[in-house]
Amino acid sequence: MLHESFHDRDGHLWVDGVRLDSLADAVDTPAYVYSAARVRANVERIQAAFAPLGAALHYSLKANAALALVRLLAEVGLGMDAVSAGEIYRAQQAGVDPARIVFAGVGKTRDELHYALDAGVGWFNVESADELRLLDHLAGEQNRRAMVALRLNPGIQAQTHRHIATGHFGAKFGLPPDTVAALLAARDQYPHLDIAGLHVHIGSQLGSVAETVEAVRQAQALAAPYPDLRTLNLGGGFPVRYTEADDYPSLNAFADALAPLLRGWQVKIEPGRAIVADAGLLLVTVLYVKEQGGARFVITDGSMTELLRPALYEAVHPVVPVRMSDDAARPSIVVGPVCESADVLNRDAALPPLAAGDRLAVLVAGAYGMVMASNYNQRPRPPEVLVEGAQWRIIRRRETWDDLLRLEVE
Ligand code: LLP
Repeated sequence: MLHESFHDRDGHLWVDGVRLDSLADAVDTPAYVYSAARVRANVERIQAAFAPLGAALHYSLKANAALALVRLLAEVGLGMDAVSAGEIYRAQQAGVDPARIVFAGVGKTRDELHYALDAGVGWFNVESADELRLLDHLAGEQNRRAMVALRLNPGIQAQTHRHIATGHFGAKFGLPPDTVAALLAARDQYPHLDIAGLHVHIGSQLGSVAETVEAVRQAQALAAPYPDLRTLNLGGGFPVRYTEADDYPSLNAFADALAPLLRGWQVKIEPGRAIVADAGLLLVTVLYVKEQGGARFVITDGSMTELLRPALYEAVHPVVPVRMSDDAARPSIVVGPVCESADVLNRDAALPPLAAGDRLAVLVAGAYGMVMASNYNQRPRPPEVLVEGAQWRIIRRRETWDDLLRLEVE
C-alpha cells in the first residue's frame, strides 16, 4: 500500500526523501519509520472531510503516542483523546493544552480522575454511574467543575473484527440507552459536573457507515429533551486500507452521511488509525529462508513483539522488499524469531527470492504498532525514526538489554 510518501524510485523503496535500505544500514533493524508528511496529509484529509460538520479533532493517543508525533499533531492544532493518566501526562510533556484533551476509558482509577481534574482536562467521557458519582465527588473535593459526555452503548454490532467492536451490549463499553436516559434526567444530582454531551464509539476499523449513523440517531434522541446538551463525540474508528483488496468506506462517506444529521451540534471526533496507520512501516531484515511442508518461510528479525496485529487480529500487513526485484514472486510466510506459532508478520506475502541480509518493509504499521510492542522473549523494543522530507532522526532509541533489567529490584 504505497502512496506519495512511500514510493518506489530507481528500484528502491523510499519514505519521502529517504531511501530505506540506507536508513536500515544506519539505524539497524527492526525499526519503525514514520513519515511526517504523510501524518500531516492525513490530518488535512480528515479536516477537509469533516469540515462540513465543524468537527473538532482529538487525536487518539493510543494509536501511536510517540512524543515527536504528538508534538507534531499538537502543532497542527489537534486536541487529544487520552485513555489513561499516562497518556494525559505524555500529551502534557508534548506541550498539549489539557483543556483540549478528552479523557475516555471504561476503568479510570480514582488517582487518574484526580490527576485529570487537577490538570484541567477539557472533557470526561464517562462510562458508568459509579464513575459519574466518583467524578462529581472528586470535582467537589478539588473545587473544580468538569465537562462530561456520557458514553452511550447503543447496542449495535459494528462491522469489524470482534476484538475491536465496542458498541454491542456484550462489550464492556459505555452505558445502555435506558441508563443514559435515567442519568440525564437526574443531572442535578451531580452539582460539580456539566453533563453537556454524549459520546459514541462503536468500534475501530469500521466496515460500514450505517451503524454509526444509527448510533448517532440514538444519541440524538436521548439528548433531545435537553437543549443544553448539544455536544456529540463520535469517537474514532475511521478505517484505513491495509491491502489493495481492502474495500472500506471513505472518510467522506462517513462525513457525508453524518453532516445532515448534525447541524447545530458541536461535534468531536477521535481518530487514531486514520492519522498514523499508513504513515508508518516496520523495517526488518531477513535472517534465514527455509522450505517446510511445501511453504517458504522467511524468518526475519521483526516479530509479534514489534507488531502484534497479525497475531492478535489476523490483520494483514503487506510485506515488500525495500529493493525491487524482477524475479518472480512466490507466496511466502514471513515470521519472526519468537517462540510462538502465532509469531507471523504475514501469512501470504508475495516475495521474490530472498537471502540473509535482505531488507523488508511491513507496511501500514504506524497505528497500534509500537504502542503494542512488548519485551516478550527479552526482545528490546525497536527504535522509531521520523522522516521529514530528506531528513530523518531517531525519535526513540532502540532499547538495550540493560534497559530490560533496569526496573528490577534484587
Ligand atoms: N475513541 C475511542 C473511545 C476508542 O476506543 C478508540 C479506539 C478510538 C477513539 C480510536 O479509534 P481509531 O480511530 O484508531 O480506530 N489495537 C486495535 C485497535 C484498538 C482500538 C481501540 N479503541 C488494532 O490494532 O486494530
